[in-house]
Formats: sequence, C-alpha cells, structure tokens
Amino acid sequence: MTLLAIETSCDETSVAVIRDGSVLANITSTQIEMHTEYGGVVPELATREHLRNCLPVARTALQTANVTVCELDAVTATQGPGLPGALLIGFQLAQTLAFVLRKPFVGIHHHEAHLYSPWIGGDPLRGDFSVFQPSVSLIVSGGHTMLVHVAAELQHRLLGSTVDDAAGECFDKIAKLIGLPYPGGPELDRLAERGNPRAHTFPRPMIHEPSDDFSFSGLKTSVRYFLRDHPALLTERQGVFDLCASVQAAIVDVLVLKTMKAARRLGVRCVTASGGVTCNRALRKELAAACEQEGMVLKLAERTLCTDNAAMIGILAERKLLQGCPATPLDADIMPNWSLM
Ligand code: KG4
Ligand code: ZN
Repeated sequence: MTLLAIETSCDETSVAVIRDGSVLANITSTQIEMHTEYGGVVPELATREHLRNCLPVARTALQTANVTVCELDAVTATQGPGLPGALLIGFQLAQTLAFVLRKPFVGIHHHEAHLYSPWIGGDPLRGDFSVFQPSVSLIVSGGHTMLVHVAAELQHRLLGSTVDDAAGECFDKIAKLIGLPYPGGPELDRLAERGNPRAHTFPRPMIHEPSDDFSFSGLKTSVRYFLRDHPALLTERQGVFDLCASVQAAIVDVLVLKTMKAARRLGVRCVTASGGVTCNRALRKELAAACEQEGMVLKLAERTLCTDNAAMIGILAERKLLQGCPATPLDADIMPNWSLM
C-alpha cells in the first residue's frame, strides 16, 4: 500500500510517502527561524507559510520517493489537535487529493501518531508492534507532555498529561530567562553538557503524587526567583552551564520518575518515548538507565522523528487501513482540540 501523508499541525510543513511500512520520503520544511523573532509560533504566519510550502514539499516528497500521485492508494493528514489555520492547509490538501484520485482519506490524531514514531526507521518497521506491547509511552514536546498506556496496536488510554506548561515549553521559557534564543530547549541541552547538574536544586513538581499528571509552571517560577536573587550567575560561563544542567536535571528527573512509576504500576515490559524533547540527550540517557535497571525494553524515536513529521502520520494511517478502520469522510472537519482517549 502506498500513501501520501501530510502534517501541518504547528510550525513544520511535512509530507511523507509510505509504502508497506517503509518511509520512502519524509520531507519537512521548518518555520523555526521565522518564529524566532517573535519568541514563539505566530499562528497567522504559520498558516501562510504552510500555504506557501505545502505543495512544493509534497512535490519534493513524491520526487524523492519516485512515486506519482496515480500510484497512491490512500491520502492522510493530521486532523488535530493543533493550530486551526495550520491544520486546515494540510487537511484540505489531503482531502482534495483523495477526492480527485478517488482514494480513501484518513484523518489522524497527532498524538496517536507520536505513539507509533518509535517503531519507524527499520526497513520496513523496527520490529513487530505486538512484541513490545503493552507499553507505557511518554509523549513530550513543546505543546504536550503525556503518558499513555498502549495495551495493543491501536488500543491506548491516556494516563496523565500536564496540568499547565508542557516540558518543552518549560525548557523554552527557562532558556528565555537565561537569555537563549527560541526555541531554547536544544541550546539549553548543549550548555548543560558542560555543567554540574547538582550545582543547584530546583523543585521536581508532582513526583510524589499518585496521579500520572505533570506540572512544570512552578519550576519555571522557581528559576525566575532564583535568577532574581543571583543575577551575577548569568555573567559567568560556568554559572550558566551549571544552571542549565541543574534545570535540565529537574525536568528530566520528573519525566523519567513518572514514566517509570507508571510502567511499574501497569506491569509493562516496554517503555517508549517521542516528541521534540525526546531529542534531549540527558532524557535519552536517563530513560535508558532506568529501563535497564528495571529490565524493561526502551524504544526511543529516532532523533529526526522525535519532532513533528509526516512519516508518523502515514505509518499510523497505513496500520489503521490494514486493520480495517473506516476511512474519514471527505466532508470531515479539522479537530483543533481533539483529546487523546
Ligand atoms: O515535537 P516538537 O518539534 O513540536 C511540538 O511542540 O509539537 O517539539 C519542540 C519542542 C521545543 O519546546 C524544543 O525546545 C524542544 O522540543 N526540544 C528540546 C530539545 N530539542 C527540542 N528540549 C530539550 N532538549 C532538546 N535537545
Ligand atoms: Zn507533536
């Protein structure tokens, strides 16, 4: 089966071509530079940029895959959640293509697609889905932080999510307080490498609570007060390195402790993680160490597939069609606030 997949939920215009579980092309045009100037994603600008980029990126993806539109068996796009204007561009293009080609159209839940990204990358997929399930999956990015129990393929339950800021948002907001450019997560990760994670102790919010929810806004506030009381720290290089390492340690500790607590409680033998923050080196290392200690298998999305991409949308759509899930009607609307069940 050959599918064209489109992802435009936020600030990446991504188009992939999938065939029988293999990613033939996965082309992403990022808007990060454009939004840097504003310190965050500006929805109106994101929408216009998707409009400009969507067809050229689709053409490149088809050329890279050496596939023509006539060879497509289905078309898929992110239906939600995401920025309404941004979603509309990719969703409408995919619906139109499906209409013209008279092929099935599949609207995909963005977070559900993240759940499947750790399996992408082998040829065709990295292992059999069933071997690694049930699992506990951490989805962690600038817009979301959640834990999901995946009982079997296409069967999942949301365990908990952030009650305020997402972990990536916390990285970005604290990086901004330190004076790093947007998005500050990757830069904070880079500077933390040269710092001492035990130099300062910041709160690990909600780690002792029984729920699987997260909260990161208190950590950001605590760093703001800390910087108010220690302004000289930002003038020394080692001071910045130590601060970055200590902040990162607090965020990573919360993510790892809560993920492992849920995994132990539910008795799963596999943990997976995806989303932009999964690029973080300390998070990857600490999750690996914790899983090894517990005798659990860890499946991390490849770095290039941690951030938003159309390959994960296409892989999930193909699995859904193969499992007999119905196609999405061509008059279906986007679902900007669609929550994961
Ligand atoms: O998944 P993503 O590309 O977009 C959504 O938010 O959906 O994730 C972007 C987020 C940003 O907050 C960015 O700072 C964070 O992921 N991020 C990182 C790293 N790389 C990306 N945070 C910490 N360390 C990193 N290496
Ligand atoms: Zn995402």
